[in-house]
Amino acid sequence: MRSGAGRVGVLLVGLLAVTACAPGAPPGPDATPSAPPRPLPDPMPTEPGSLEEAIAERRSVRELVDRPLSDAQIGQLLWSAQGITGSRGRRAAPSAGATYPLEVYVATAAGVTRYEIADHALSDHLDDDRRSALAAAALGQEWIADAGAVVVLTGVVERTADRYDDRAERYVLLEAGHAAQNVLLQATALDLVGVPVGAFDDEDVRQVLALPTDEQPLYLLPIGFPSD
Ligand SMILES: Cc1cc2nc3c(=O)[nH]c(=O)nc-3n(C[C@H](O)[C@H](O)[C@H](O)COP(=O)(O)O)c2cc1C
Repeated sequence: MRSGAGRVGVLLVGLLAVTACAPGAPPGPDATPSAPPRPLPDPMPTEPGSLEEAIAERRSVRELVDRPLSDAQIGQLLWSAQGITGSRGRRAAPSAGATYPLEVYVATAAGVTRYEIADHALSDHLDDDRRSALAAAALGQEWIADAGAVVVLTGVVERTADRYDDRAERYVLLEAGHAAQNVLLQATALDLVGVPVGAFDDEDVRQVLALPTDEQPLYLLPIGFPSD
């Protein structure tokens, strides 16, 4: 069973890596007739410290040095994911109907903490290093254990389903993507590297992190220092 899951994981990671530019299906019957593509103005120059620079520089890097991140770095990453940025509890990432289904954990060498969003604070959750166990749950992606911090996004679908019924699962996944990209761009801006990891066994991650039963693990974001 495990080796089957592992093969699926390796296949998934491989497909994610190589299928980025697969051609789309032909346009629908009402689409505008084809014309030569019109060139766009060049993207804005990537000034140091700009959003454009972070977008351009972000890369998935899996060769990491196992070194702890500072509290300031971890705090900044978590704020980027779900920090309060506006009135009435509005957060750094958009949320369908402001239903806010996401929760955020951080696994480090020191243990696992939970991001207390309203207070911008960490509460203790588990007091030992679970990064290797997360790597195993991620179908044996061993490099995850070298990430100074593994940010984990979970979702409580019921919060969004109360308003959006059967659209909720889609919305929660989309929202996790928004939060994850914020974290990855923020990591880049902090001269850190990270990878979005979707290939994992849900139940294994749930057990490794002792998640509440209503929280579904959605995304692992190992963030750390590049080895070169
Ligand atoms: C939904 C999703 C799941 C992914 N899962 C994994 C994963 O499990 N392991 C991994 O190493 N990379 C994973 N990736 C990262 C992709 O392999 C990577 O983004 C892709 O190769 C493009 O490279 P870049 O991120 O450097 O632009 C995932 C990316 C996405 C969007």
